[in-house]
Amino acid sequence: MTFDPCWLSGQRLPEVTIHASGALAQTIRAELRQTRRVRHDVEVALCTLGRLGETPLAAWVEQALPVDGLGDEGFVVVRRGNQLAVAAETGRGLLHGYFYLLRYFEWMTGDFTVVERPAFPVRMLAHWDDLDGSVERGYAGRSIFLRDGRVVQDLARVRAYARLLASVGLNAVVPNNVNVHAAETRLITDHLSDVARLAAVFREYGIAVHLAVNFAAPIELGDLDTADPLDPRVVRWWSAAAGRVYDAVPDLGGFVVKADSENRPGPAAYGRHHADGANLLARALAPYRGTVHWRCFVYDVQQDWRDRTADRARAAYDYFIPLDGLFDDNVVLQVKHGPLDFQAREAVSPLLGELQETPFALELQATQQYTGQQKDLCYLGPWWREILQFDTTGAGGPTVADRTEAVVAVANVGDDPNWTGHKLAQSNLYAYGRLAWDPAADPVSLLHEWAAATFAIDDRTRTELVEIMAGSWRTYERYTAPLGVGFMVTPGTHHGPSVNGSEYSASGTYHFADRYGVGVDRTVATGSGFTGQYPEPLAGRYENVCACPDELLLFFHHVPYDHVLQNGRTVLQHIYDTHFQGYDEVEAMLVRWKAIADRFDPASRDNITARLEGQLANAREWRDQVNTYFYRLSGVPDAAGRTIYR
Ligand code: GCU
Repeated sequence: MTFDPCWLSGQRLPEVTIHASGALAQTIRAELRQTRRVRHDVEVALCTLGRLGETPLAAWVEQALPVDGLGDEGFVVVRRGNQLAVAAETGRGLLHGYFYLLRYFEWMTGDFTVVERPAFPVRMLAHWDDLDGSVERGYAGRSIFLRDGRVVQDLARVRAYARLLASVGLNAVVPNNVNVHAAETRLITDHLSDVARLAAVFREYGIAVHLAVNFAAPIELGDLDTADPLDPRVVRWWSAAAGRVYDAVPDLGGFVVKADSENRPGPAAYGRHHADGANLLARALAPYRGTVHWRCFVYDVQQDWRDRTADRARAAYDYFIPLDGLFDDNVVLQVKHGPLDFQAREAVSPLLGELQETPFALELQATQQYTGQQKDLCYLGPWWREILQFDTTGAGGPTVADRTEAVVAVANVGDDPNWTGHKLAQSNLYAYGRLAWDPAADPVSLLHEWAAATFAIDDRTRTELVEIMAGSWRTYERYTAPLGVGFMVTPGTHHGPSVNGSEYSASGTYHFADRYGVGVDRTVATGSGFTGQYPEPLAGRYENVCACPDELLLFFHHVPYDHVLQNGRTVLQHIYDTHFQGYDEVEAMLVRWKAIADRFDPASRDNITARLEGQLANAREWRDQVNTYFYRLSGVPDAAGRTIYR
């Protein structure tokens, strides 16, 4: 069977010689065999530093090496005259260099030197896949890893996926859901040989497999009557479990754990805290240099909407900051980018600025749970880049990217023919990998790169496509929940509008709209005090209703409808304007797309056209429900007299 090659389709390379040995060099040789050749006067050599002497550019490469080395994954590319060398310390570095060459060879003219090293040592995709093949929050078919209670027999598609990930520089993958249910608890027992098969495929591409595990596994597997992290029997149990897992997969990256979160078991049942729980697993993994990714998505799932002082946004910080410093060295705290839950707009989590002692991973969501579910076009590159470049102090302090040890994204891939359901959602996978390597990369340039590699189209068509896509996140933001207030999606499915759907739920996701105003008061002065979790001057900026950035106003403040934003409009008029504008933008996207659609292969053309048409219907529903809701509450008409249904 063949799979959509995504962005690994039409590239060509000249003849390449390889001066390297080992498994990754073998992978590069196999890759080269699949790549189309072009006659070219440039002679390309790929070599590890140990064999640099075998290449004519050895001296130039030596000169280019950074004083602190290339590290495990870095590489150098040097061109002088008609010689071009890609050099790295390791096979993994060389593989990254190979894909760099593949991506940019066409543009490599004249003499140049490039040194590339990834910004973060761990760049992970997390799949929320279950053994029966279902994918939690998956919008692109079923699991590519798991089916009918086991790992799939034919790993051809997994290999194709590993290539895609390696080609954008990713190096870690979690094949199973963070919600580890009964069947998946057995991945670390009954399914180890299958996990080993998966790991072998990813290993060929320099990608480590990590496993999500169940904190209560000692009980659920029937071995113990407790999972208390301080009980010596539990300690021994996890140590033996880790031993078995590493016998099967000696280079497993480690475990991922969702504990005491959304009803998943954890240390709290035994009066222990998160550091006790994380360290239990960290110590079991330490002999094998494994890492625990311990998730900080912890909040009260039984919140009472009547209590205006309770605030879910506070929870992760309140749980984890007091524990900072208590975690073992091989624990990485995994923090969602926002304090709520992957909304199209929310504040950046204060944990990302305030954890001082414990390394942490930034968790993003490529699967578009709250951002259109791969039915709506929503290119997330600009949003991720904004998060990565967020100044954690508000005064020129370190950015999130400066402080983060690892990046994780929940994957947007399934067994749909085009991997992502919406063909254009492939761009999110691409951009995630590239931003994880280089968080300063320009999201629009990434779109150009992606589109050029993906479609056989001329430059003008590509520019038009990029223009259709580049602003799609802001468009999505405009026609959905306004001004950072979040959670107006249909409960459960999380697609389409339901303005009051979560207003009285126990999950702490409210907008508090009444006849006078809307928004969540998270100030120290009169609200939940969440703004106080940020350092100054950031805290002060969020606290002050006049200084708070417009796009987050309703995330931080409850304001009257006639409150005037920094952009000069009232909150209510802004809600109307953005909802009309968002819809109009989708309409324009569709018109522009239809004008170029025939230049694309039929499968892409039909897929994209159908999705954009669906998006227009969705945007219409959002526009009208949100506008009508606020019109009915406030009684204030649109200043521009556009149609708002009564
Ligand atoms: C969201 C999502 C869940 C998921 C959870 C998590 O709330 O809706 O499906 O399990 O995040 O990140 O753990």
